[in-house]
Amino acid sequence: MTIDALPDAALVHRAEDPAGPWWRHAVIYQVYPRSFADASGDGVGDLPGVTARLDHLAELGVDAVWLSPFYRSPQADAGYDVADYREVDPLFGTLADADALIARAHELGLRVVVDLVPNHTSDEHVWFQAALAAAPGSPERDRYVFRDGRGEHGELPPNNWGSIFGGPAWTRTTDPDGTPGQWYLHLFDSKQPDLNWENPEVRAEFEQILRFWLDRGVDGFRVDVAHGMVKQAGLPDWDGHVTMIEGTDDADAVSGSGNHGPMFDQDGVHEIYRAWRTVLDEYDGDRAMVAEAWVEPLSRLARYVRPDEMHQAFNFAFLAAGWDGPALRRVVEASFVANDAVGAPTTWVLSNHDTVRHASRMGLSDPTHRPNGIGQGDEQPDAELGLRRARAASLLMLGLPGSAYVYQGEELGLPDHTALEDHLRQDPAFFRTGGVERGRDGCRVPLPWEGDAPGLGFSPTGATWLPQPAEWAELAADRQRGQAGSTYEMYRAALALRRSEQLGAGDLRWLDEDPHVLRFANRDVVVVANLGEDEVALPEGTEVLLASGPLGGTAQAPTVPAATTVWTRAQA
Ligand code: NOJ
Repeated sequence: MTIDALPDAALVHRAEDPAGPWWRHAVIYQVYPRSFADASGDGVGDLPGVTARLDHLAELGVDAVWLSPFYRSPQADAGYDVADYREVDPLFGTLADADALIARAHELGLRVVVDLVPNHTSDEHVWFQAALAAAPGSPERDRYVFRDGRGEHGELPPNNWGSIFGGPAWTRTTDPDGTPGQWYLHLFDSKQPDLNWENPEVRAEFEQILRFWLDRGVDGFRVDVAHGMVKQAGLPDWDGHVTMIEGTDDADAVSGSGNHGPMFDQDGVHEIYRAWRTVLDEYDGDRAMVAEAWVEPLSRLARYVRPDEMHQAFNFAFLAAGWDGPALRRVVEASFVANDAVGAPTTWVLSNHDTVRHASRMGLSDPTHRPNGIGQGDEQPDAELGLRRARAASLLMLGLPGSAYVYQGEELGLPDHTALEDHLRQDPAFFRTGGVERGRDGCRVPLPWEGDAPGLGFSPTGATWLPQPAEWAELAADRQRGQAGSTYEMYRAALALRRSEQLGAGDLRWLDEDPHVLRFANRDVVVVANLGEDEVALPEGTEVLLASGPLGGTAQAPTVPAATTVWTRAQA
């Protein structure tokens, strides 16, 4: 059957104008500044390091970069604890370095998205310091969520909420005279007090912060904990478990990353995004916002990308589906249904700085399992199988219409560091859970640029803030560049084809009902991802454009082995 003759039922998503706004189909590369490239030599990546390596990203063929936070911060949560939203932390450079980075990226045709952390500040932010110094009931305290404790002497936290990093979500303060005082809320670490978004001053301040960075030329914002800023009135007790990465038992959820407690996904958050949208719309150049919102089902998530709110929302249901054909198929379909209903693009993602990299996750005996970090003594992934599946999953993702995020190093096929010694760990989740959760350090290890250089070329001195696994030498960028069949060259070829074939603005039609084979047409390209055990035959004479691994069969009648994705030319 030719594609034009397919029944309409096979059509899941319609193509759109490729000349539409960039964020509808862009591939955006996540830079985690402390681990991307170090120019200063102190072993921690920095902004000049990023600028010096932007050519790599242009050559790779991405459209934009998103930078995780580089603002002034005591680094209690690797910069997601911001002490000054308008300053660059000396660890990463200066404001002039940020300007230079933005300018160089734009010269190379890359857009720049920066991180905005509005749910909480650092406890070292001037506002929080002023709040501690001020009396209960003061305007200073009203910018945060301070409450009296329960119990006869206020010795119990105001409610039973737990922190996402472990332990209680409340910390008691000490008054200037040394007596125990009120408690403050922190959904994350105690050094990350939650802001009170009912307070108009907080709202006004963040609009100014948006303008500050928009005026400096950024093209957009990734909004941290976008589902958490507004809490249910009265802060009622809740017996659920607050989590960023674990599952939910909600039958309605596609794969389980929902958070339904009174601290998440409250209707009030949408008013904030509507206000921000009007700010962005005042600027030229299609500035955009992407929501980091662990919300399910997908129809709830789609509310964040209604036409007058944000532009994109990370599709964590896709990430969470792991290597599971039926689950991925369901997520792909449900994502288009939900997002098309509000006219938004779907925003695919497989890895980021909060999750075990997909090359490691997919090498676990349960390739849908998402542990919060892997360490010595834990099940170690099968590296070869993990990489094979990861490459297949990446080629599946990049063949889908919509936008996609690539986490630094996934283009090299990097796994996590899964044997990091616990004494090197820095993630607050490791400490707040008493080591029960290993935390996220394993996916944050400095990138390997040069296989033969000390520190694999991450820094001019060879210093790296976390050690790199020895096997990473082979995965270094310089070893993969120009090597046919390398993961880097696979990504580069995929991004080039995605661009020339306009796949980001393309359509999606299923060509197969086998739940373990995702076979679909996107414009003139047919993507076949084999998630099953058996080889999948391709029609005779198929023109293979790109494959995630060696194919079977013959040149005339190729087959797709298990854990392999292939892009072929649609037959007329
Ligand atoms: C989500 C960020 O991605 C994560 O790294 C951070 O710890 C939390 N939000 C808190 O800001």
